[in-house]
Amino acid sequence: MARSLDDKKWFLEHPALWGRNAWLDFGCADGVLTREIAASTPLGHPVVGYDNDHVQILNARQDGRGVIKYASDWHKAQADWLSIEGPRVVVFSSVLHEVVASADYGAPHNQAIRNAEYVVIRDMYWGQTNKEIEDDERRGYTVDVKFPLAWKRMVAHEERFGFIRKSQKSFVHLLLKEQHRDNWESEWREDYFALTPERLHALLGERFIPVYFETYTLPYFKQWAKQTFNINVIDHTHLKAIFKRVR
Ligand SMILES: C[S@@+](CC[C@H](N)C(=O)[O-])C[C@H]1O[C@@H](n2cnc3c(N)ncnc32)[C@H](O)[C@@H]1O
Repeated sequence: MARSLDDKKWFLEHPALWGRNAWLDFGCADGVLTREIAASTPLGHPVVGYDNDHVQILNARQDGRGVIKYASDWHKAQADWLSIEGPRVVVFSSVLHEVVASADYGAPHNQAIRNAEYVVIRDMYWGQTNKEIEDDERRGYTVDVKFPLAWKRMVAHEERFGFIRKSQKSFVHLLLKEQHRDNWESEWREDYFALTPERLHALLGERFIPVYFETYTLPYFKQWAKQTFNINVIDHTHLKAIFKRVR
């Protein structure tokens, strides 16, 4: 988290979000980003951090900086959030890909969106301008990288997400996962690119318009792939977006 904190707090500089907002950091984990949000708000103005992992919330509470109300109970988090003055902003940082496949209208992330005036998203995202493998240069780097990757991990990934030689998306997906290989048992099933344009639309519908939308290659990941495998990743792996409610 700390390694990409600068990238994660990008939205605090966007003029649309300056001011006395009611912030909800959804999926706040140990609160590193929540504390940055709190530091950017007027002194004494509360911020809410919600995570459904109770242990994360206990960790977050260890740090007493800022007026932050942490909760692992959604009803408590929501009540705290709704009681704060100001335009309501929900931040989904590296969490939406974990919940977006759920069609449950009553799920907390959907409730949060229904109550928000702004929705901030930063997550992994397969950029629409990315091309599938179609030139020799790309095919070349796919084949080269096959060998440094442990065979077992590669096979497990390919069974679920497609052959890395045939799909650039599957290949970059696996590369992203290689950064978390110590945690492979919990990571390998996860679909990092679960957030798609269709799901984004299903989530926000016609109720929101983008005031900021950018896909990009995460700088830290780009640097890591270059150093580790001598691969120059040119595909966009992440999305940063701010949506504003229009109705
Ligand atoms: C990858 S971490 C991201 C943490 C932090 N937002 C960041 O940007 O570094 C994802 C967090 O979301 C939490 N999470 C996953 N699904 C959730 C859900 N349905 N409701 C609340 N939190 C959730 C996890 O417990 C985890 O702490």
